[in-house]
Amino acid sequence: MKYSSKPGKLEALRTDCLVLPLASARRAARRLGMADYLKSATVDFKDQPGNVQLVALPAGPKPRRLLIVGSGGQAVSGDDFRKLINAVGGMLKQAPFKDAVLDLHSIKVTGSDAYRKTRIALSALSGHLYWYDEMKSRVEPSNRIARIGVHADGPAATAIRRAVRHAQALDAGLALARDLGNTPPNVCNPTYLARSARRLGSADNVTVRVIDERQIEKLGMGAFMSVTRGSATPGKLIIVEYRGGKAKDAPVVLIGKGITFDTGGISLKPGAGMDEMKFDMCGAASVLGATRSAIDAKLPINLVTILAAAENMPSGIASRPGDIVTSLSGQTVEILNTDAEGRLVLCDALTYAERYKPKAVVDVATLTGAIIIALGSPASGLFSNDDALAQSLLDAGEFIRDRAWRMPIWDDYQEQLKSNFADMANIGGRQAGSITAACFLSRFAKQFPWAHLDVAASAFSSGANKGASGRPVPLLFEYLLSQA
Ligand code: BES
Ligand code: MN
Ligand code: ZN
Repeated sequence: MKYSSKPGKLEALRTDCLVLPLASARRAARRLGMADYLKSATVDFKDQPGNVQLVALPAGPKPRRLLIVGSGGQAVSGDDFRKLINAVGGMLKQAPFKDAVLDLHSIKVTGSDAYRKTRIALSALSGHLYWYDEMKSRVEPSNRIARIGVHADGPAATAIRRAVRHAQALDAGLALARDLGNTPPNVCNPTYLARSARRLGSADNVTVRVIDERQIEKLGMGAFMSVTRGSATPGKLIIVEYRGGKAKDAPVVLIGKGITFDTGGISLKPGAGMDEMKFDMCGAASVLGATRSAIDAKLPINLVTILAAAENMPSGIASRPGDIVTSLSGQTVEILNTDAEGRLVLCDALTYAERYKPKAVVDVATLTGAIIIALGSPASGLFSNDDALAQSLLDAGEFIRDRAWRMPIWDDYQEQLKSNFADMANIGGRQAGSITAACFLSRFAKQFPWAHLDVAASAFSSGANKGASGRPVPLLFEYLLSQA
């Protein structure tokens, strides 16, 4: 989506569709000499958040249509604003025209200034106005929304222009994350992720390195290798370094789980719904997406992004339940279930991150089915060894409405990871599966403030709306903005 800010008089804007609340539409119609026309066209309109009505205007005026949004004519709550914007998004997704302009000035939202209102609106619209038809042999004649303007006038104009810039950067990162997530697993393998990351390397201050299996083995990443060994498509550690800050500033490190297909390995998953395990690289896709956003927004920060990319397959050389491997940290792990593979690739990436002396490390992973049961999709699961970092991430999610909820990683849970034969097991039994997974990771994150986001429920949808959501790119980008 192409976003822009639009100065000038509302009713003079040349657009396919002006999106505005009823009261504002009435004012505009009066100035256009169409008050009566609008009145009769909207007799049945109920002015409430969630309702929208498209009104085509007779030839003449520059806006060709009005999309009337219900707001009740007064200040709306944050929740009602989302409802209202989602109704706009639903309508624009179906719309057979190319561009629209939003008038957000005349919608007051309690607790949001012009900047936040614009950010939330455009972030929600980015969510709606996305299509993935790369793999369709025939794409319908495209007369789709491609440009959205935001009316920026008066004292709020500067804030709106800034919000539009940030929204544009976020949109690009979200689209990248979703495209990667939706790309089928026979195409989107670790090599494909590496190629996609390399594309970021053409921007200023960005370098991309790809570490192959030979080097991964040589480095001593026995946990990572135990996952990738069974697959015919080689695993990769993909590293994007962005230097937008001062040379001496410690970087933020983002780490993403990039299992491009998770069969479970020898601990094979049941067949039904297994196709959705192509989404098991959404953690990697989201950190790469957030990195794209940070680069586009030219944030003055240092950022290192590590994708732990591998495929989890059963084969004659795949790891077995009972195998013991030595991680990069030197700690040994008994693999009791080869389907708990995410933590195995992530633990070595966490240890690798130590070399950057980071100010914070955030890993993102579709790590456990248990987080779907615990939180569902409204919130990603947040785990952290640092209260300040946890709070920054929670605040970032709250601000842009891509929320997380903090879960405990108390020592009481660590006991479940005990192994009779190695330093730890890779699973912790039936209870508190997301927490024991996070406890496992915490053992490799002792050298820095660390947080883990379990996005198994929030990163993609199943069923009729099957597809990658791009979450938690909005949360991550907001966090990076707060560090700038
Ligand atoms: N990738 C899965 C987790 C997952 C499940 C993500 C459903 C998205 C939707 C992960 O690798 C996995 O298999 N986890 C196991 C862990 C168990 C073996 C301890 C799980 O959650 O069942
Ligand atoms: Mn698994
Ligand atoms: Zn997995």
